[in-house]
Amino acid sequence: MELEDINTVAVLGAGNMGHGIAEVAAMAGYDVNMRDIEEEFVQDGYESIEWSLDKLAEKDRLSRDEADAAVERVTPLVDMEEAVADADFVIEAVPEQMEIKKDVYGELESVAPDHAIFATNTSSLSISELAEVTERPERFCGMHFFNPPVRMQLVEVISGEQTAEETLELTEDLAEEFEKTPVRVHKDSPGFIVNRILVPLMNEACWLVNEDEATIAAVDSTTKYGMGLPMGSFELGDQVGNDVSYHVLEYMHEVLGEAYEPAPLLEEKVRNEELGKKTGKGFYDYE
Ligand code: CAA
Repeated sequence: MELEDINTVAVLGAGNMGHGIAEVAAMAGYDVNMRDIEEEFVQDGYESIEWSLDKLAEKDRLSRDEADAAVERVTPLVDMEEAVADADFVIEAVPEQMEIKKDVYGELESVAPDHAIFATNTSSLSISELAEVTERPERFCGMHFFNPPVRMQLVEVISGEQTAEETLELTEDLAEEFEKTPVRVHKDSPGFIVNRILVPLMNEACWLVNEDEATIAAVDSTTKYGMGLPMGSFELGDQVGNDVSYHVLEYMHEVLGEAYEPAPLLEEKVRNEELGKKTGKGFYDYE
């Protein structure tokens, strides 16, 4: 398949990442089927796209006409078969848990067209293990966007053990069509490149607070004003979602060892469903 053969992109999951990826694909001119398991979830995702495009138009990052055209290219759906029947490229962005993703791929494989490429937006999980659930491991790779997808330039393109070179090249070309900068990750190891660096940083910030070495505000001031990151560590954790960082760490802890043990403060946030901006409360309050 060539880049010109890609007309319809299906995005599975309409959460923080899913709706953001759907928005990026629609802005690039693709027809997008955005699917989630409940009407309420797809509707929330659709409204978030409307909000975001409106914001971008308000800030002159695109015109009103372009924003309107992009939103019209997105079809919110619940039915899996309907969402993928005419898809040339499927990007999966469902919760960061191996078993959930495997279930989705099992269902997807039975209804997606044979030629379609499957790309997972996983932040850390093994591409090769996910690909095994499908009958197309050579047409399966990682395509990892960053939060918020519409504003973040990077896309990690990750090879699984059996991913074909053509799949990786096509995925990189598609990322460029999305006006992103792809970076090839040749080794399928937990956290790939960015999260291998970034998530331990956010975890270490939690350990500092747990051990009473510093306050949340002090840590965030240093990461933002001393290290030059655009957000403080805790601010970023709330943006990414504390559940997402926690699941990434749990997996890194399991596969890579002790150094990645999630800090109790992060665990507590997840247990209390204080997941960050998306729940209105995380390390900071957003209500
Ligand atoms: N769509 C449209 N507008 C958005 C938006 C979105 N999705 N998200 C935020 N905005 C808006 C804000 O509402 C705000 O609007 P107001 O000024 O009206 O309040 C505006 O954007 C802020 O944008 P600015 O350009 O003025 O501000 P900025 O220069 O700080 O840029 C940012 C914002 C690009 C998000 C920047 O803070 C940034 O780069 N933050 C770091 C994000 C990051 O590191 N992400 C990666 C996380 S790791 C990850 O995602 C991997 C993983 O798998 C866990």
